[in-house]
Amino acid sequence: MDPQEIINDLQHLADRFDDSVSALATEQQIRDLQASFLGKKGEITILQKLLGKLPGESRKEVGQAFNQAKQRITTAAGDAIDGLVNREASEYLDRHTDLTLPGRAPRMGRMHPITLVMYDIVDVFVSMGFDVALGPEIETDLYNFGKLNFPDDHPARDMQDTLFIKEGKTLLRTHTSPVQIRTMLEKPPPIQIVAPGAVYRRDDDPTHSPMFFQVEGLLVDEGVTFAHLKGVLEAFLARIFGRDVRSRFRPSFFPFTEPSAEVDIECISCKGAGCNLCSGTGWLEILGSGMVDPHVLEGVGIDPERYTGFAFGLGVDRIAMLRYEGISSIRLLYENDPRFLEAFRR
Ligand code: DAH
Repeated sequence: MDPQEIINDLQHLADRFDDSVSALATEQQIRDLQASFLGKKGEITILQKLLGKLPGESRKEVGQAFNQAKQRITTAAGDAIDGLVNREASEYLDRHTDLTLPGRAPRMGRMHPITLVMYDIVDVFVSMGFDVALGPEIETDLYNFGKLNFPDDHPARDMQDTLFIKEGKTLLRTHTSPVQIRTMLEKPPPIQIVAPGAVYRRDDDPTHSPMFFQVEGLLVDEGVTFAHLKGVLEAFLARIFGRDVRSRFRPSFFPFTEPSAEVDIECISCKGAGCNLCSGTGWLEILGSGMVDPHVLEGVGIDPERYTGFAFGLGVDRIAMLRYEGISSIRLLYENDPRFLEAFRR
């Protein structure tokens, strides 16, 4: 047989495959057609048996023509199957897609309820002329305790209460009060700051979290009296809990203030009658406060004969729980369950 004739035959076979495959409607039909060309008894396979009978010098050229024809058919079969699948997929989508359905709204992040309440608290004081001051969460023993007039044997310094990094040297601040010290060391009076931030204690139960948030306040100037403290805090409580909220100042003790007072508001749940929330007392403790102890002023180089000041500190979590009645456990505030957080959109 003439080698050129075989090469022509192969061309025609591949052309014929192209023509036939385009008319087929299923993958099986395409595979059957492919087998009738390339399978064991396929036309090309049968033709290939002649290859051995050809004179040696033409075998190479004819062999290449075989490979090309097989390649063409394999590619054409693959393309035809891809085309079918794509066509089926788009027909399926045409049948099953409803382009008139509304889209899915992207999920929006929200501010955490603690953050919202902390911003509200800070805003009230900023509107009264306070600046915002920040301090580090890793604090020295000296600023967290020493300069705040805590005696060496004060129970707060116990390993039970404080998360020490290096005992007696560095720790996770147990309150925001060290920001008072940092601010007074940094600049002379008049000073009027609030310091919001995270604080840490070795506590973990339904009403205590090992990390929680406080807002500290400090005002130092000439002629500052307890009346100023009372006026500022009453104005603050009215802004946060409503104008008719009743409050009381109860004598207390803190190492860094003298005199000291804790401030209670009338229970927002029972209005003073006594209930579970207020443990039957009718009052809720909201914050600690007092006149800056002269000893603390001296310790940061401020003359207590010339300057006086007041300070206060409040727990943001406590206020958030009162603000959003129904938060039963402080843990809910720190678990960050999106379903819980979703309830506080603003
Ligand atoms: N640092 C106190 C605490 O964490 C709260 C406090 C009480 C802060 C009285 C003050 C203050 O500034 O005057 O319990």
